[in-house]
Amino acid sequence: METSQDRIIIFDTTLRDGEQSPGATLNVEEKLKVARALAKLGVDVIEAGFPYASPGDFQAVQQVASLVGTEDGPTICGLARATQKDIKTAAEALKPAAKKRIHTFLATSDIHLEYKLKKTRQEVLTIVPEMVAYARSFVDDVEFSPEDAGRSDPEFLYQVLETAISAGATTVNIPDTVGYTTPSEFGALIKGIKDNVSNIDQAIISVHGHDDLGLAVANFLEAVKNGARQLECTINGIGERAGNAALEELVMALHVRRQYFNPFLGRPPESTEPLTNIDTKQIYKTSRLVSNLTGMIVQPNKAIVGANAFAHESGIHQDGVLKNKLTYEIMDAQSIGLTENQIVLGKLSGRNAFRSRLRELGFELSETELNKAFIRFKEVADKKKEITDWDIEAIVNDEIRQPPEIFRLELVQVSCGDSSCPTATVTLRTPEGEELTDAATGTGPVDAIYKAINRVVNIPNELIEFSVQSVTAGIDAIGEVTIRLRYNNKVYSGHAANTDIIVASARAYLKALNRLYSALEGAKITESTLKN
Ligand code: KIV
Ligand code: ZN
Repeated sequence: METSQDRIIIFDTTLRDGEQSPGATLNVEEKLKVARALAKLGVDVIEAGFPYASPGDFQAVQQVASLVGTEDGPTICGLARATQKDIKTAAEALKPAAKKRIHTFLATSDIHLEYKLKKTRQEVLTIVPEMVAYARSFVDDVEFSPEDAGRSDPEFLYQVLETAISAGATTVNIPDTVGYTTPSEFGALIKGIKDNVSNIDQAIISVHGHDDLGLAVANFLEAVKNGARQLECTINGIGERAGNAALEELVMALHVRRQYFNPFLGRPPESTEPLTNIDTKQIYKTSRLVSNLTGMIVQPNKAIVGANAFAHESGIHQDGVLKNKLTYEIMDAQSIGLTENQIVLGKLSGRNAFRSRLRELGFELSETELNKAFIRFKEVADKKKEITDWDIEAIVNDEIRQPPEIFRLELVQVSCGDSSCPTATVTLRTPEGEELTDAATGTGPVDAIYKAINRVVNIPNELIEFSVQSVTAGIDAIGEVTIRLRYNNKVYSGHAANTDIIVASARAYLKALNRLYSALEGAKITESTLKN
């Protein structure tokens, strides 16, 4: 029988560490969408959040636990610092899950002990077993992480891990918190743990790492060769600073190079048994969903899921691929769920054709959502001859997967050109239902629109990113605009798609402002609840 030691456990932390990326904040509904997609993808564990961090995080973990944490679904995990209040709150949030895990952590590097925790090594050796045992009093599945393990004294690390396992930790996770180690160092660290922690056979070794030097995935693969059996990763590699190890890169490396990795898991090289439980055909869809909901754009040359990952530009390459794909392709685009036939619908396509294409693309829409999306599809089809899968995805994401419309764009008009002063007029419907119109001039049309919107919404903010991407090639392409703005040290993103990039720019900006407005309203509610 296959045991977890025979294959690699995929622990997804998109909803916890990934959501810590500046501006990637998701609301509960969006987190549920991601969690459902992760379950469909086949991840073994979903780290759904940090329940003690905020009421919103608590609610998200609880809802993911009850809706996705079914008997045959993934284990649902909640993060907790090594304190009783954190652990108790995590246990409470996880209650609805059939399979639950508490992930508790405490730093072990001297830098963290001295400057952040102001604790001695002896204190850490006391707290860790106490808190692991406390977590075990709620659940059978407890993961312990010595934060900043990558910069910790290995001898001290071995001691801490031994006490954690003795106290009941079933997984010990080794984080390279600051993305500092190199592959051979990280591999040696895992080997050292395997060789020196006397009770290591009673726990799964997991790894967690950040991509500050672009080495996270390479480090993890070296860790697998040395005994790690759980990989903590995120979709598109999103996460703190430079992000986490990317799930799609790890999974496809293990998939494409299975013969190379098999012996490290005690299998013959030619074994065709998959090394992970992931349904690789769901990778692309999940990547797009996460990118659209978080507003974290995937760079075109990103491995596996970037727009260019399977494109061959040079003549020599194109010629080779036409003769035999193997000349320049190490994996098939279809293996990550990309369909070959991209051109599907047009102006004359009906509602049923639209609905069935949506289903093929993995979108499950309610009747109301389908109606809204179909109206947009018809509008786009009037302007654009061929509607590709990319266009359909952009339409659905723009129309359906968005924060609630608090301020609504009723009208946007600009006048610009090389001999006039860019001027914009906007009409917005306010949360109170009032229609307000204002106008402004700017350095360009988009600047003018944003200034006009700001005059109505009146929440001071700093625009930190504005980007436009074409969904498909051609002059009639849909343009996707992504906005990131900062308010009070927090980043909020907005995303919109339209064949008119001026309209898309206005809508994206308003969506980011709506997120900011919801957060400010939410903070007011939490404040008044705490007062009462
Ligand atoms: O990067 C890190 O060390 C973490 C821990 C909480 C596992 O995210
Ligand atoms: Zn992390």
